[in-house]
Amino acid sequence: MLLRFLTAGESHGPALTVIVEGLPAGLAIDMAGVQQDLLRRRGGYGRGGRMKIESDPVEVLGGVRFGKTLGSPVSMVIRNLDHANWTSVMAVDGEPTEERQVTSPRPGHADLAGAQKYGTYDARDILERSSARETAARTAAGSLARQFLAALGVRITSATVSVGEDLGCIVPDERFDDLLALPDDAPFRCLDGGCVERMTAGVEQARSNGDSVGGSFQILARSVPVGLGSHVHWDRKLDGMLGQAVMSIPAVKAVSIGDGVEGSFRQGSRHHDPIDYSGEDRRFQRPTNRAGGIEGGMSNGEMIRVTGYLKPLSTLPKPLPSTDLVSKERSGAAVERTDTIPIVAAGVVGEAMVALVLAGECLRKFGGDSMAEVGRNLASYQAALKAF
Ligand SMILES: Cc1cc2nc3c(=O)[nH]c(=O)nc-3n(C[C@H](O)[C@H](O)[C@H](O)COP(=O)(O)O)c2cc1C
Repeated sequence: MLLRFLTAGESHGPALTVIVEGLPAGLAIDMAGVQQDLLRRRGGYGRGGRMKIESDPVEVLGGVRFGKTLGSPVSMVIRNLDHANWTSVMAVDGEPTEERQVTSPRPGHADLAGAQKYGTYDARDILERSSARETAARTAAGSLARQFLAALGVRITSATVSVGEDLGCIVPDERFDDLLALPDDAPFRCLDGGCVERMTAGVEQARSNGDSVGGSFQILARSVPVGLGSHVHWDRKLDGMLGQAVMSIPAVKAVSIGDGVEGSFRQGSRHHDPIDYSGEDRRFQRPTNRAGGIEGGMSNGEMIRVTGYLKPLSTLPKPLPSTDLVSKERSGAAVERTDTIPIVAAGVVGEAMVALVLAGECLRKFGGDSMAEVGRNLASYQAALKAF
């Protein structure tokens, strides 16, 4: 991995921290852009109360000087504003108390398996870290990766595809700029008014039943150079890396590339994208993009499309039956403050994860210690491709 990141911090602890290593020197860093991505992660229809408390103030503690990366690890901290209400529960020292202990594990969460694995009867020890609050730190790291990619001409955005039983709303490649231009406070990242109405109704129906609902989101990456990833090893395949990265987002239970799911119902002649040599710039391209921009584990120059499928969240205001860890008596599962569906946020986190993978692969292919060196390497590769 040429671009690595590591996060630390609990949901109601003092802060989240992240270290990003591998960014070349001389990358102009726009901290307002990082803050904006964090704002986008808090948004969307279907969120719970926590996001009204947090404003995710992000601070750089190392690796940036006079607005540019130094080539050293970049370290960032995001304070949890809600920590002020949890100081005794999340104290770093002192004796454990019973305050806000969780002994009734929530079905679908990390609570029970985590308590058994780490040997604790207070599942708060687990849920504080398994909480998707950690994805704020990933979003900040991904924002730096996104800025690196933007310097190479690559743009990334996301779309809300479905909520509940809705069949899904796919945004065509040509509408990428409209998707980018969606306001940060849009209820869903969707361009179709009819779909937005159905998605809103899906959230409301679940919320009014004290339930949650699943959905899907898509990440789109434009102008990704041909040849990121490789066919030669399982762990160098770009689709495999993107699959792992997006699957690692809490509550994502399936990932597809392009028409990956639909293709399994088709015959080959109706699925594969014919190859042309055309366009003003006379290059190899495809009139369709059912492959989602990746063939043989390598980017092929078309728009990369990755879909993440979110299960319905596990914390239910009307809880499912569970069993107390200590008494072994039947109980209702614990209830924490919860979202009905964080579908927009999942898309923003997905953008971050895709950006981190693509930035890492760009560094592998065009890598250098400075942005100037990366730029030279990319330019010479592009010149070779033009002559191909
Ligand atoms: C942005 C985001 C917000 C989430 N918010 C919640 C939430 O409010 N309540 C909840 O039960 N799960 C929430 N989750 C999902 C849980 O963190 C996740 O289901 C849990 O950690 C168990 O992991 P798993 O579902 O990947 O197996 C959220 C996920 C994401 C991506």
